[in-house]
Amino acid sequence: MNDPAKPVQGASAEAIEHHYGTGNEYFKLWLDETMTYSCAMWDPLDPEQTLDAAQLCKIDYHIEQARAKNAARVLDVGCGWGSVLSRLIRQFNCKSAVGLTLSKSQAEWIVRTNSDPRISVKLQSWNDHDAPDGSYDSIISIGAFEHFAKLGLTSDEKVQIYREFFRKCQKWLHSRGWMSLQTVAYGNSLPKDFDPFIAKQIFPETDTPRLKEIAEGAERLFEVVQLRNDRDDYRRTLRAWFSRLKSRRADAISIQGEEEVKKFEQYLRLMAYMFEVGGLDLYRITLRKIDNPKGK
Ligand SMILES: C[S@@+](CC[C@H](N)C(=O)[O-])C[C@H]1O[C@@H](n2cnc3c(N)ncnc32)[C@H](O)[C@@H]1O
Repeated sequence: MNDPAKPVQGASAEAIEHHYGTGNEYFKLWLDETMTYSCAMWDPLDPEQTLDAAQLCKIDYHIEQARAKNAARVLDVGCGWGSVLSRLIRQFNCKSAVGLTLSKSQAEWIVRTNSDPRISVKLQSWNDHDAPDGSYDSIISIGAFEHFAKLGLTSDEKVQIYREFFRKCQKWLHSRGWMSLQTVAYGNSLPKDFDPFIAKQIFPETDTPRLKEIAEGAERLFEVVQLRNDRDDYRRTLRAWFSRLKSRRADAISIQGEEEVKKFEQYLRLMAYMFEVGGLDLYRITLRKIDNPKGK
């Protein structure tokens, strides 16, 4: 939970729960089998590829980019319902995987569905995570960075938060350790191009970064080894979620009520459009720790 001694600069636990606490059973209806709630990685040459396959492809991509195979200890910042944690342990032979989430219902879900002692989940912000230097071999963070800064902050304020995040990750990683980050970012757009409905009703207290803000946050802490913008992958993912929600609409309404379901339909449609026209980008960034950063 939020530490009252530290002011929350990104989405609070309450704001996160507003969205993710909508109910595990509700998300289970229209997410894939692994309950992954972030942009999948699609094969552009395979129009028949399933959402489940594309999500696994994305998870494996990040595990490979973070060089996490056979690792002793891996951190997943913003672990959702734990799909990366369980894949690290079950398919990639990791000895231990630690996940952070601000959502109580997600943390409870992970504890209930994973009895494996090699998986642990903390109901905690990265900002409050206290791990000794060099604790982790690899860090993965998928679809959480978007929540680290609140709407209304200046670009400088956002950079300060991102820099603090990268500073902590740099410290937690062992020498020359790897990190794989996936985040939505502003593309060819300004905050005013977005329907206030998203900020007010879907993702309160949340603002996405710009590429230059991420770069400034990571500069001289990490070297950027690879950067991809896969925005069409998010268009396809949002369309897949939309059609799954549509095909299970009656069940969704019985869990959530029609108003809530309509809100989600509108959000999925709006976001798919923003990725399609390039108003939003989807970055996958491979970073490597700089052991002795110069300056601050
Ligand atoms: C869109 S979900 C993505 C979940 C997961 N990575 C996936 O791909 O399925 C965003 C996740 O980020 C977490 N999150 C948001 N802000 C956070 C913070 N400050 N510290 C840790 N986790 C955070 C949320 O609790 C949630 O689990």
